Amino acid sequence: MPTWLHYAPAKGWMNDPNGLIHWRGRHHLFYQYNPDGTTFANQHWGHASSPDLLTWTEHETALFPGPPETAPYDATACFSGCAVAHDGGVSILYTGVLGDAQLPCLARAADDGLSGFVKDPANPLVPAPPAADITEFRDHCVWREEGEDGGAGRWRQLVAGARREHGGSVFALSSADLLAWDYDGVFVDRAAAKVPGAVWECPDRFAVDGTGVLLVSVIHEDGEEGPAVWWMTGTASGDGFEVRERGVADVGDRFYAPQSYWAADGRRIQFGWIRTHEDPAGLGGPAVGFMSLPRELSVRQGRLHCRPAAELTRLRRSATPLPAAGPARLDGGRDAGELVLDAMAADGVRSIVLRSQEGAEMTVNLAAFAGLDGELRLFWDAGIVEAYRGGIAGTWSDLRVAEVAELRLDGGPDAAVGRAQLWELARPDRHTGPAAGHDAG
Ligand code: FRU
Repeated sequence: MPTWLHYAPAKGWMNDPNGLIHWRGRHHLFYQYNPDGTTFANQHWGHASSPDLLTWTEHETALFPGPPETAPYDATACFSGCAVAHDGGVSILYTGVLGDAQLPCLARAADDGLSGFVKDPANPLVPAPPAADITEFRDHCVWREEGEDGGAGRWRQLVAGARREHGGSVFALSSADLLAWDYDGVFVDRAAAKVPGAVWECPDRFAVDGTGVLLVSVIHEDGEEGPAVWWMTGTASGDGFEVRERGVADVGDRFYAPQSYWAADGRRIQFGWIRTHEDPAGLGGPAVGFMSLPRELSVRQGRLHCRPAAELTRLRRSATPLPAAGPARLDGGRDAGELVLDAMAADGVRSIVLRSQEGAEMTVNLAAFAGLDGELRLFWDAGIVEAYRGGIAGTWSDLRVAEVAELRLDGGPDAAVGRAQLWELARPDRHTGPAAGHDAG
């Protein structure tokens, strides 16, 4: 099993990141997981953790559907959700699925390693979606809001979905104890936000210096196409959200369902699911689906800003300049690396072509990055490309190009001569498979 920079379980199907939390010195990454096959079905929560965002240990599956006798409300599946620190431990809110019913559920981590969860006997926490016109209701983001002037605080919860006639919507709920929830109305919807989508999924909300940020992943109307993950920034308005600015969270075509959390050092770290099953060559292996590299989010001039997590530079080993003419040939092929173009080269290069030993080519169009500030960093790994510049990220994949034998920069003449560097990256350790799942760290 190769060790990719991008996290993937040893086997099975993986989608959305869930329950992200930095707890007792480790970053915990849960995810939608089918342990028994490589298709979207039978959703459990898989689990991995890392002390440094680079070295991952895959643990035992953490959350199981059912059993029907004691937990009928999630006997079909355990869909996406979030984690919160509460009462000296960790609780998760997730969507329990029974047939077509999807409702919020609560569970409590059994130990400090978050190795499993005890479901709350009060599940499901609400008996039905809280308004008659709600047609989709799933995925959770929960945070603690302190009371004003020392008053009692409350838990706030966002659930994503849709309303009849209105399409993509996020709903607001609040609670004193994580168990009993009041419905506070629509937090924001597609008309108010000017963000598309027949259905919104996976709300992710945080605030920096009074600016609120909300990300949603969108299912488009039939026949509509467009970016899948959107950010909005704005301010609280009652229990709702007034959107000032909006934008696309990833300019590629693979990134979906991101979630973010506070690292102990104050950074907001984000992971998203890379939908490699949309890649025809992506099927057939023992595992399907990858997580993105860790990203750091901030707000700059009222807009969401995204960059690769600082830890990734620790993987750099040696740099070589690109040749003055012709493509860069990487003897024998290289499964991972980082290409850095300085600001001038990043403006001159229109696209980057990665070519495998067998001649498969993947073309990364850099149009969305033209004219932005600073250098462009492009990571490739396992057939996945992530590019970053000026606060914008883009993710693409073609698993036929799991090893890059040749890199070509297409642009004006000599667009990148002396202005591009190729970094060899170290492979982080990976402990794959549940058997290796209980390390001491
Ligand atoms: C997004 C999503 C969520 C849901 C989960 C099910 O990819 O559809 O809305 O909770 O995946 O796996």
